[in-house]
Amino acid sequence: MRLHADITSAEVLDYLKAQEDKTLLRFLTCGSVDDGKSTLIGRLLYDSKLLFEDQLAALNAASATGNGNDGELDLASLVDGLQAEREQGITIDVAYRYFATEKRKFIVADTPGHEQYTRNMATGASTADLAVILIDARKGVLTQTRRHSYIVHLLGIRHVVLAVNKMDLVDYAEVRFNEIVADYQAFASEIGLDGVVAIPVAALKGDNVISPGEAMPWYRGPCLLEHLEQVDVAKTAEDAPFRFPVQWVNRPNLDFRGYSGTISSGRIRSGDEVMVLPSAKTSRVTRIVTYDGDLEEASAGQAVTLELTDQVDISRGDVIATTETPPEATDQFAAHVIWMHDEPLLPERSYLLKMANQTVPAVVTELKHTVNVNTMEQLAGKTLELNEIGFCNLALDRAVAYEPYGESRDLGGFVLIDRITNQTVGAGMISFGLRRATNLVWQELHVDKIARSSMNKQRPCVLWFTGLSGSGKSTIANLVERRLHALTHRTYILDGDNVRHGLNKDLGFTDADRVENIRRVAEVSTLMVDAGLIVLVSFISPFRNERRMAREMVGDEEFLEIFVDTPLDVCEARDPKGLYEKARAGDIKNFTGIDSPYEEPERADLTVDTTALSPDAAAEFVVAMLKDRRLIE
Ligand code: ADX
Repeated sequence: MRLHADITSAEVLDYLKAQEDKTLLRFLTCGSVDDGKSTLIGRLLYDSKLLFEDQLAALNAASATGNGNDGELDLASLVDGLQAEREQGITIDVAYRYFATEKRKFIVADTPGHEQYTRNMATGASTADLAVILIDARKGVLTQTRRHSYIVHLLGIRHVVLAVNKMDLVDYAEVRFNEIVADYQAFASEIGLDGVVAIPVAALKGDNVISPGEAMPWYRGPCLLEHLEQVDVAKTAEDAPFRFPVQWVNRPNLDFRGYSGTISSGRIRSGDEVMVLPSAKTSRVTRIVTYDGDLEEASAGQAVTLELTDQVDISRGDVIATTETPPEATDQFAAHVIWMHDEPLLPERSYLLKMANQTVPAVVTELKHTVNVNTMEQLAGKTLELNEIGFCNLALDRAVAYEPYGESRDLGGFVLIDRITNQTVGAGMISFGLRRATNLVWQELHVDKIARSSMNKQRPCVLWFTGLSGSGKSTIANLVERRLHALTHRTYILDGDNVRHGLNKDLGFTDADRVENIRRVAEVSTLMVDAGLIVLVSFISPFRNERRMAREMVGDEEFLEIFVDTPLDVCEARDPKGLYEKARAGDIKNFTGIDSPYEEPERADLTVDTTALSPDAAAEFVVAMLKDRRLIE
């Protein structure tokens, strides 16, 4: 955008108004620098004559230094400024650039093209309406072309441009172009990608980027920019059924209660009947309030506050929808998950799932398969590593309104967040809801935990012993139980080695299996607490995350975490079962403390240092704590 000094303010206002009225196209470019991606983006920015002055100056300076392109402008240098930042060790995941033409405004997301960048590409793709997939005309459809196309398709992009670049290096041959397009179409239809528009370009020279050029008279379709200006992506969001995820409940005073948010799809009129999900309660819209006064009608993209006739119980994240075709609500669904973190996804670990204004604890209950993004092959897998894609079943702590991602990115897309670090670890796309649990209700029973435990003269609880193998957990737990037994308390010991002989005999020692091991024992101890018992759990339980899950499941009041703190070298010197020796020799894999981590508790209820205390003295401390907390008399 070049603003000249002699422009009048009226002209400026006209200009700004025109900018506002232009539609916006968000697109993504996929390919590598080798395919000429940077050159192509640079050409779009440069030739559309809307570069900022300083960027232009930098460009001329860079070109003047000589770059081996026979005096042609080094368009790639416009984009590869990023490189310097990368060399400084700053990770730039996605770079966004803005430009505009007479007809449209554009935001182009550029992501690095390497294999390990699935995460970045998915991030860029999740907000794009269109993808430009670059192919080097000399090389044709490559593995990376397939990978990019698959991710583009998975992320719900409906418009794909196949830019067959470097046509100058294949003598602008129509035959070669047709060959590549046929090849690509065959693959695209395999994965269900349609609406592909193929354009032969020579980004370095400029042919068919902004204008046709002379070299390819056989091509009669639109140039790239022309297509980008024309393509209709305004995916009928306004014509889709009404969906309004509530962002916050607006209660400025006792007389007004409204629900604020942005309309995700459809339109709403004052007086319309609506349904609130997941409760399925119905009501009617009395007012549509905005900063600029009330509206009679509002549609997709508008931020409004709705007032309803009834005092329905609505909270953040609920969805207000049309009664004719409301979205479904469920607490279980199947989804594709793209893993974005170094630590793998572990089924049964509790993550926070964030979607459409709400955050709900969720677990992956089953990893049905992983997808090889290069071959689209489905493979069996127990975990998802960084940049892997899996198809999973998820279970949420409560029901949410959703739609398949293919129908709504707003109601079908989610991210997963680690509960300890708060980092985003995955992104997901809902495929369909699962109804398995809908006919299950919780059965209230007459004799409850309080009734059962009052006969025992004790308050039921879990004593959760955690520590390395050989730290002395079982020894101390045994001594504690003997003391409690002598005091006529009702107890039960769940010991890792023993439970692994029965209930958990199908589990090994991978991270994923340990998570499931702890989940099951936490469930069992919850039942035993309900039965009125004092439960002594003696498991290594190496992960903070799952110990926290156990605490949440049992309840903070009734869960006592006891860290049996014995340093690794002491455990190893004791080596009661000879396992450390085997682990060191490489005969046992994934051994805690050797080649599998142990995460020490950050705030245990009791820490016993076995290098300073005898087992008997440690047991005494545990019993004293129970008395102290009035769990026993
Ligand atoms: S946990 O990590 O999943 O909580 P758990 O307490 O059930 O472990 O089981 C640990 C016991 O299994 C150890 O005391 C040891 O006797 C035995 N064991 C066998 N292989 C391993 C291993 N790779 N890592 C740790 N313990 C192992």
